[in-house]
Amino acid sequence: MTLVDWRAWHDEYDRPDSSLARRLKVVRRQVGAALDACPPGPLRVVSLCAGQGRDLLEVLDGHSRRADVRARLVELDERNTGPASAAVEAAGLDGVEVLTADAALIDHYRGMVPADVVLMCGLFGNLTDEDIQRTITFGPQLTKTGGTVIWTRHRSAPDRVPLICDWFEQSGFERLWLSPPDASFGVGVHRFTAEPRPLAAGESMFTFVGYDLLGRRATDAE
Ligand SMILES: C[S@@+](CC[C@H](N)C(=O)[O-])C[C@H]1O[C@@H](n2cnc3c(N)ncnc32)[C@H](O)[C@@H]1O
Repeated sequence: MTLVDWRAWHDEYDRPDSSLARRLKVVRRQVGAALDACPPGPLRVVSLCAGQGRDLLEVLDGHSRRADVRARLVELDERNTGPASAAVEAAGLDGVEVLTADAALIDHYRGMVPADVVLMCGLFGNLTDEDIQRTITFGPQLTKTGGTVIWTRHRSAPDRVPLICDWFEQSGFERLWLSPPDASFGVGVHRFTAEPRPLAAGESMFTFVGYDLLGRRATDAE
């Protein structure tokens, strides 16, 4: 089991010079742009392994579409859903629901998908390659036609960002934006251009291994 303290992990966001704080700025900008590009009318947003919701909540708070948005943040650790719920309440974001649950279970998105915006941030660096690919194949169940997935993945070796782009593009997505290769983090934005698929009830998309255990497995294999 991952030994990372996922509440403390968020503390890096508060160090403005940290790579994570710089990544957050980029992700927030992309979230704002994705909301800007949405058609008029009600909008749905889902976030997998949402943490404290820092990528979404602050953007929503100041966004012209805030009243149109229903969002569901799914996060396992209640030490993170607590602050997320507090932020939702403080901002009066009535359409946002914070669920303390296993984000891998597709059933937790019922009623909220296919969504206009899907966040997969801080997820892929904690999954095996097989599960990254598997999760991406669920994109057509999670995303509506014209909807956007915003995702992140670190750039450390092996750099999986190119493969992740390929996997999205094989699943009916087109690349809208990718952070430059020399950034200390990877952020990607893909738009879904195909027809959504119905939710496959009972399916689990991934096992969240944790970057610490993945790194240890790689070292042991050397
Ligand atoms: C790297 S953090 C990313 C948080 C957030 N998405 C962000 O980018 O700021 C990963 C998060 O996944 C959560 N997590 C781990 N396993 C999970 C699971 N099975 N279901 C939901 N959340 C999970 C952790 O508690 C942690 O908050």
